[in-house]
Amino acid sequence: MCLRIALRAPLMLICSMVMCLLINAKLSMIFLAAIVVLAAAVALIMSKAMKIFSHVFHRYDDLNASVQENISAIRVVKAFVREDYENEKFSKAATRLYELFVSAEKLQALNLPVMMFIVYGCIIAISWFGARFIVAGSMTTGNLTSLFTYVMTVFSSLMMLSMIFVMMTMSAASGKRIAEVLEEKADITDPSKPLDRVKDGSIDFDHVTFSYRQGSGEETLSGIDLHIRSGEIIGIIGGTGCGKSSLVSLISRLYDVTSGSVKVGGEDVRNYDLETLRDQVAVVLQKNVLFSGTVLDNLRWGKKIGSTEEYREACCLACADEFIEHLPKGYDAWVERGGANFSGGQKQRLCIARALLKHPKALILDDSTSAVDTATDAKIREALQTVIPGTTKIIIAQRISSVQDADRILVLDNGRVSGFDTHENLLKTNTIYQEIYEAQTKGGGDFDHEQASE
Ligand SMILES: Nc1ncnc2c1ncn2[C@@H]1O[C@H](COP(=O)(O)OP(=O)(O)OP(=O)(O)O)[C@@H](O)[C@H]1O
Ligand SMILES: [Mg+2]
Repeated sequence: MCLRIALRAPLMLICSMVMCLLINAKLSMIFLAAIVVLAAAVALIMSKAMKIFSHVFHRYDDLNASVQENISAIRVVKAFVREDYENEKFSKAATRLYELFVSAEKLQALNLPVMMFIVYGCIIAISWFGARFIVAGSMTTGNLTSLFTYVMTVFSSLMMLSMIFVMMTMSAASGKRIAEVLEEKADITDPSKPLDRVKDGSIDFDHVTFSYRQGSGEETLSGIDLHIRSGEIIGIIGGTGCGKSSLVSLISRLYDVTSGSVKVGGEDVRNYDLETLRDQVAVVLQKNVLFSGTVLDNLRWGKKIGSTEEYREACCLACADEFIEHLPKGYDAWVERGGANFSGGQKQRLCIARALLKHPKALILDDSTSAVDTATDAKIREALQTVIPGTTKIIIAQRISSVQDADRILVLDNGRVSGFDTHENLLKTNTIYQEIYEAQTKGGGDFDHEQASE
């Protein structure tokens, strides 16, 4: 509609003006003056209204954020009895939006009366002076009538032009926001000549420093120097926020190091094709995410086309088969958005199965069995050890029992390596490890220890 009017209105405007000038150039001066006044008035109103419209879009963000947050975290809102507060928050955002819209529309509403005032003022003036011309005999009544028609056409074309001007400026404001997202450049890109094969599952960290905000000086990881052989089982333990998840996210190149280098299979991760690297380094993230679809659809994330037997085997390894087979529809059971109809432990096990289906050279489990009972946890670890011995396994855990059988255990403290050795050696030499061990075996962790040694 805009395009059509944008083409037609200026044409009508110019032709009508020419016709007016041809009929009576002196009378036409009246409406030319009126047009200038009108244009100035409309421009003033529009510029004020547009300023408000640009704020409106940001208010929409607040409103959407409030709705999205409340819907996705509805359980938390209910658990903390925050409905009233959240309602009020939403109302406030909605009211602010309403007020802005009303004030912008109020300004816009002025447009029409201003325009009408000028148009009819102009018509009266033309009638007045036109009558004189007719009496003097320099113009016919017919000429005056057609002049009126052309003048009205000029003004209606102007009105349409101002309308599409508003539409276009509003669209431009929206377009700019969309372009911002589309034009965002990814920090992590494929190299020009990517490697498409990962030799083995060895992982090396050479003097790695990493910070989430480059140049801020806050280092999340510093001075990390690790060499992990292919097929080794590595446990990582350390306090919350010490950088465990950050460390492993560098291996599958979810982030790039600030300095130093991370190597997989002897090659810098930045030299690999991202898809190849991420296929060969499977990560089960700390925050498990399932997608809406069937259980099988979710497993297909790991392997697109596979036999039922393969999917079943992976689930068996991850101890997920027990509960899937108890579901009325088994592997065709429906998973709600975000896996809302599965328990935390069930989700974790499905995510492990999904990662195993990739047959990766390195498997990273980031606190992936935290919601699984200790006996099942031990069963999963044992299965991983015996069934995929060639795969490098990195297991992040809070429980010592989950990592004590690993070949080596990395103790992280505040982004630095505090120790990297076997369970026995660490118990002798590393104070942090000793403290964690004591706390878990003497206190409530007794249960864990007994379970593991059974
Ligand atoms: N996306 C991010 N942007 C900025 N800082 C981050 C981000 N993720 C983590 N951090 C910071 O980096 C530090 C290390 O976080 P990380 O998630 O690696 O800890 P963690 O050892 O895995 O902890 P947890 O045991 O709780 O999982 C924390 O201080 C955290 O605030
Ligand atoms: Mg973590």
